Amino acid sequence: MIDALVRGVQLRKIFESGLVSKRRIVAVEGVDIEIKSGETLALVGESGSGKSTLGRLLLLLEKPTSGEVYFDGKNLTEMKPKDVRIIRQKMQLIPQHPEGSLDPRWKIYDSIAEPLRIHRLTGRNEEREVVYRLIDTVGLQEEHLSRHPHELSGGELQRAVIARAIALNPKFIVCDEPTSMLDVSVQASIIKLLMELQQKLELSYLFITHDLEVANAVAHRMAVMYAGQIVEEGRRILDEPLHPYTRMLVESLNTNTASTEFGRDVGAEKVEKTGCKFYHLCPERTKKCLKSPEMIRVNGRKVKCHLYQ
Ligand SMILES: Nc1ncnc2c1ncn2[C@@H]1O[C@H](COP(=O)(O)OP(=O)(O)OP(=O)(O)O)[C@@H](O)[C@H]1O
Ligand SMILES: [Mg+2]
Repeated sequence: MIDALVRGVQLRKIFESGLVSKRRIVAVEGVDIEIKSGETLALVGESGSGKSTLGRLLLLLEKPTSGEVYFDGKNLTEMKPKDVRIIRQKMQLIPQHPEGSLDPRWKIYDSIAEPLRIHRLTGRNEEREVVYRLIDTVGLQEEHLSRHPHELSGGELQRAVIARAIALNPKFIVCDEPTSMLDVSVQASIIKLLMELQQKLELSYLFITHDLEVANAVAHRMAVMYAGQIVEEGRRILDEPLHPYTRMLVESLNTNTASTEFGRDVGAEKVEKTGCKFYHLCPERTKKCLKSPEMIRVNGRKVKCHLYQ
């Protein structure tokens, strides 16, 4: 078996907010996850389920409350910050809001060149060559380089963000809803670009989206997140969903209701502590479900539900 490139073990993230009465939000709760070399794992789930937090934990942009992150077999959570910084070149984020990740005062050229400068990877002449190669790879033209972010369209901006993300030859990229802010016609071209880059640069992706059709199109494997936990994981999940929550997601797709029309942002803090997180909405709940189910294997799939235990 090929070893995972990225692995999260029993990851947990608790946010504390509020100055006076501290509110604890369990954003990610006991997640095991792995992404193999060259693989796209799509992570789906409704707003607030913890997808971005999980992505940021794997990149160590967020420090886990407990649990471990491995990259290429090395435990990042035990590493010195200096060594993590070197490994972080190999792990990048493409965020949901491209405009937030490029400095509005800078020309696109400088934004793309910045990671090369920070890590002192190239001299000035070579830098130019690398930047030109990068924009060619992502389908931008020379004229874009002298513009500022507000002078680019959404799609061009996202291409610039992608150029910057691949500047340091990463192996793993968390794509956090990379197309959700774009027009449908542009979405398809960005997804196509990401898939071409995956082949060309042998990239692994954690592809976060709440669009199940996008997930189906890009993913080798899919993980479904609900209230801080992965409740189902495997191939071709949408063809035959096992978990009652995944079934509900798929039904909402077939009946054309957006998943948010379940009418709630599942605040991770509100759900029960000891039972199944989906208990209060599950049409198939029994007494057993007051105890949290284990993640078990069913037909090459993993599912966290008492129906299968
Ligand atoms: N920095 C933070 N401080 C406090 N709470 C946070 C922080 N980041 C996230 N949360 C909370 O953690 C939970 C999970 O948030 P997260 O952004 O990971 O969800 P998500 O699945 O990415 O949602 P969306 O689809 O809307 O992007 C939410 O309840 C959110 O309010
Ligand atoms: Mg998010």
